[in-house]
Amino acid sequence: MSDSASKRVYVAMSADLIHPGHINILEAARELGDVTVGLLTDKAIGSYKRLPYLSYEQRKAVVENLKGVVEVIPQETLDYVPNLELLKPDFVVHGDDWKTGVQKATRDRVIEALGKWGGELVEPNYTPGISSTQLIHTQKEIGTTADIRRGMLRRLIEAKPIVRFSEAHSGLSGLIVEHTSVVREGQKCEFDGIWISSLTDSTMKGKPDIELVDNTSRLETINQVLEVTTKPIIVDGDTGRLTEQFVFTVRSLERLGISAIIIEDKVGLKKNSLFGTDVPQTQDTIENFSAKLTSGKKAQVTDEFMVIARIESLILKAGMDDALARAKAYIAAGADAIMIHSKEKSPDEIFEFLGKFQSFETKVPVILVPSTYNMVTEAELYEKGANVVIYANHLLRAAYPAMVKTAESILANQRSLEANELCMPIKEILELIPGGK
Ligand code: SPV
Ligand code: MG
Repeated sequence: MSDSASKRVYVAMSADLIHPGHINILEAARELGDVTVGLLTDKAIGSYKRLPYLSYEQRKAVVENLKGVVEVIPQETLDYVPNLELLKPDFVVHGDDWKTGVQKATRDRVIEALGKWGGELVEPNYTPGISSTQLIHTQKEIGTTADIRRGMLRRLIEAKPIVRFSEAHSGLSGLIVEHTSVVREGQKCEFDGIWISSLTDSTMKGKPDIELVDNTSRLETINQVLEVTTKPIIVDGDTGRLTEQFVFTVRSLERLGISAIIIEDKVGLKKNSLFGTDVPQTQDTIENFSAKLTSGKKAQVTDEFMVIARIESLILKAGMDDALARAKAYIAAGADAIMIHSKEKSPDEIFEFLGKFQSFETKVPVILVPSTYNMVTEAELYEKGANVVIYANHLLRAAYPAMVKTAESILANQRSLEANELCMPIKEILELIPGGK
C-alpha cells in the first residue's frame, strides 16, 4: 500500500452519463488516496438544471462500481462545503474548467474550506471534446423512455421547491415547452413538464371543452407531444368519465409514460371550470368520486403513475369546508396529489385552502392552476405550500390572436406583404424542425 492510501480524496459529480472526462478525474483522484464521491442529489441538480435521467439510486449503483471509488455519499447542495466540513479531505479533485464561469464561486468556497485543515485542490486538465451537457443534448435528440419519463414528476416534486408546467396542444407547442429557456438572475430557467389541457386540446380542434373530444383523439394529441419531447406529462382527464372507463384510461396513459392524470369531481355534462356558476355544473358525491379514484389507483401497474384529484368546490361555490372535506376524503381514497381550482381574481381563497391544508395529518402535493389569480408569483405559491404550478392555456391563447391578426391583414390588403412582418421568416420555419433539408 502506498503512503497515499490513507489520504482522503473528495470528488463531487452528478454522474448521469458517465464519460471519459469522469474517468480521467477519478484516475487522478485515486492516485492521491481513497476516493469518496459526493454524488449530487436530485435536489442539488434540480436547483440549477433539469433533473438527471437516472435516479440517485441508479447513479449511485454506477459510481460505486467505478475503479478507485471507496465510498459514495450524497451531496445535497451545489455547495461542497457541508460535505467537506464533514470529511475534512486531504484533496478535492475537479477539472480545471471551473476556474471561470458560473462554478467559480463554488470553487472559491472549496479553496477556502480546504484552507482550514491544510487540504489541497487538484485540478487536472479538463477533457476536451466531451461534456455531460453535450451528451444530454444528444440524448434529448434521441429521446427518452416511457419508464424514465413516467417517474420524473414524482422526482421533480421531491427535488424542486416548485415544479412548473406549461400546456401543449400539438407537437409544435410541445417543442416550445421542451426547449424554451431564459436566463434569470444568472440561472437557466425552463419548464419542468407539459400539461395536456382539455381546454386547449378541444379548442385546437375547434370543439367546445365538454368532453366531446374522445379518448382516442386525446391520445393522438398526447402522442404528438410524446414524439418530440422528453419532459414529464400531466394529462387533464376531465371527469375521468365513468369509473368503468377511467380504469382503461389510466392504463393507456401509464403505458405511454405519462406521469399523472388529473380528474375533476364533476358529473354529467362537464363545462370548463372558468365558467364557474354561469353554467349548470354538478359536483360528484364524495363517495362516488372517491371510489373512482380508488379504482384508478388499483388499475395502475407501476408505482410511479399518479392519480390526482381535482376539487371543484371553490369553482362551484360549495364553500371552503366542502373543499377541505373533499381533500381529506380523496387523500384517504388514494389520491396521490390534490389540485384545488379557483376562478377568483384574488388568490385569497387558494391561500386560505393552503393554510388549512397544512394542518392535515396526511398531506400530499398540491397543484394549482393560477389562470385568473395570475399576479401571484411562483415564489409566493411555494411559500404558501403549493408544489406544482400549471400555466394551463397560455401558448394557445397567445397563438390565436397572432393568427387572426395575420388573417385580417391579408384580407385588408388583398396581399401578404403587410402580414409578413407578423410572421416568422420563411427560412426560419424551414429550418425550425431539424431533418427537413
Ligand atoms: C384545462 O386546461 O383544460 C383545465 C384548466 O382544465 S381550466 O381551463 O382552468 O379548467
Ligand atoms: Mg380541462
